[in-house]
Amino acid sequence: MENKNYRRTLVTCALPYANGPVHIGHLAGVYVPADIYVRYLRMKGEEVLYVCGSDEHGVPITIKARQKGVSPQDIVDEYHAIIDRSFKDLGINFDVYGRTSSKIHEETSSAFFKKLYDEGKFITKESEQYYDPEAKTFLADRYIVGTCPKCGAEGAYGDQCEKCGSTLSPEELINPKSKLSGAEPIKKKTTHWYLPLQDYENWLREWILEGHKEWRPNVYGQVKSWLDGGLQPRAVTRDLEWGVPVPVEGAEGKVLYVWFDAPIGYISNTREILPDSWEKWWKSPDTKLVHFIGKDNIVFHCIVFPSMLKAYGDGYILPENVPANEFLNLEGDKISTSRGWAVWAHEYVRDFPGKEDTLRYVLTANAPETKDNDFSWKDFQARNNSELVAIFGNFVNRAVVLTHKYFDGKVPACGELEPIDRETLEALPAIKEAIEKNIESYKFREALKEAMNLARIGNKYISDTEPWKVAKTDLARTATILNISLQICASLAIAFEPFTPFAAERLRRMIGSPLDWNLLGRADILPVGAALKEAELLFTKVEDAEIDAQIERLAKIKAEREAAEKAAADAEAAKRIEPQKEECSFEDFEKMDIRTATVLEAERVPKTDKLLKLTIDTGIDQRTIVSGIAEYYSPEEMVGKQICILANLAPRKIRGIESKGMILMARQGDGRMRFVTPQETLANGATIG
Ligand code: 2FM
Ligand code: ZN
Repeated sequence: MENKNYRRTLVTCALPYANGPVHIGHLAGVYVPADIYVRYLRMKGEEVLYVCGSDEHGVPITIKARQKGVSPQDIVDEYHAIIDRSFKDLGINFDVYGRTSSKIHEETSSAFFKKLYDEGKFITKESEQYYDPEAKTFLADRYIVGTCPKCGAEGAYGDQCEKCGSTLSPEELINPKSKLSGAEPIKKKTTHWYLPLQDYENWLREWILEGHKEWRPNVYGQVKSWLDGGLQPRAVTRDLEWGVPVPVEGAEGKVLYVWFDAPIGYISNTREILPDSWEKWWKSPDTKLVHFIGKDNIVFHCIVFPSMLKAYGDGYILPENVPANEFLNLEGDKISTSRGWAVWAHEYVRDFPGKEDTLRYVLTANAPETKDNDFSWKDFQARNNSELVAIFGNFVNRAVVLTHKYFDGKVPACGELEPIDRETLEALPAIKEAIEKNIESYKFREALKEAMNLARIGNKYISDTEPWKVAKTDLARTATILNISLQICASLAIAFEPFTPFAAERLRRMIGSPLDWNLLGRADILPVGAALKEAELLFTKVEDAEIDAQIERLAKIKAEREAAEKAAADAEAAKRIEPQKEECSFEDFEKMDIRTATVLEAERVPKTDKLLKLTIDTGIDQRTIVSGIAEYYSPEEMVGKQICILANLAPRKIRGIESKGMILMARQGDGRMRFVTPQETLANGATIG
């Protein structure tokens, strides 16, 4: 259980891969909740260190570099800058935002590996791994693509099918190909270092399953199922060129596995800004360590990294909690970087300048804390317009504008309290407690609801007491109402600091209120006589046109994706080959009178989509054949073409027209048909066989 005697808190956020910008799924899952937590602790005056940085190794980065014809370093330089900027723009200000391609990280992770290596904490294993015989390199699972054995999708990776989400291994792929050269991968022997996770199983059970029953059910449940499934040695090195070189002899061409070096990045980044005092954050039992991550990172932060730290010893602390979120969907569909189905942080900031808070607010209100959740633009607009603007913003605006109108912009004195005043003021401390309780147990969604209740209370209070009417007859009572309203505004400026920090700061400047969590809910935050600044709108509306533009953008992406998927499916179907028919005798074949013929006239059969009525010269006669080829040929295209026909097929009536014979067509797997024609024009009536 939580040790209440911690003296400081170290908050880490999953290091985003620098192979693409961050999107709303990342923000909702990791960075917005972490930022709420950190801002809250800071406001309470606690000592906090807030660490993040770019995860700059790993295969996807090298793949992207190859695709673009640049170096992996170019890729990570580009995205590191974009990601860093987006976080700052959204008010997410880490104490350090480092990089795993930095010198200090290479040193730190290399030394970490070396100590475990020297102390015999690894085992080595020779195994067969996929190798590209043309590119002459081992292939990480991501470098192998093929057909998904589960859903049949093309282009599934050796570790995962992005179409159906199945976790795969390269062995399972149908028709595996190297992404580098297109060659079929072969198996080749290679040796790697492994951390024997099974040795830490009992310790992990005790530490988490016994000791941290308070962890979120999704986190606890995933850990339990990993442990119940039995842990296996886990490779900590890879055959790759991009990464931290394995610092031992005989390891040429090998680097640390990205999931070994990345979490050490938290430590390197701390060392980067606190070269002399970093150990206080990582090796003191007085430090509370909290990892904010998404659910796909649970095993690494709850099993692998803790086992690495345990193996290392030397006083490294373990996380007190790992509040991992589930996933956020976008308009009902899984967010996917590769399919372009996302709202990118840097584009949001560009498209909605001044509305950074709205995104933070909506992502928290819909946070996928206990289950996957959905982001929709309509909901975004509704929450902005009918919650932030209509409740919070409107209340503050009325309180400040009326104070200017009746009291020259100075906080008026509070007179005798009426029951409604008392009830309102008495409700505030409970809200403070509820926000605290929820934030401290990582329930940010609930905490935000409570903060919003405070705005609702204020809005209701000012609507019920109607100071604009009271002012006509009783200025002293108006003063009391506005004093109380302004005190609630000051509480709002504190309560919303973690959630909507830009608006909270504007509000504090407007009413001159302090930033001190302990004052929240009090009736004397603002001194009587203090001068307010001019009223400014805290939030502005999101217009229909802005939302429509975003919805259209997504609709276009979806349409393009569906067209591409259909084209791929058609191409696949076209290759489908009909099985061979039952054997027939030569006599059977000889019965068929197949000949060349020329189309003289062609017209559509009225009221049908598929039928053409053709008049043909068979060399024997002129006759009519009705053929179901109108989907593939127009009448004009057919006239004058030499074709092949089955001349002696028994006549039959099709749509009232007598059809004598059949045109020979070649039909491929997707149904597409072309007529069969001799390579050179022959006389009509030439027999085929
Ligand atoms: O899932 C990811 O985006 C990883 N880059 C997270 C790494 S977290 C940490 F261990 F560095
Ligand atoms: Zn699949």
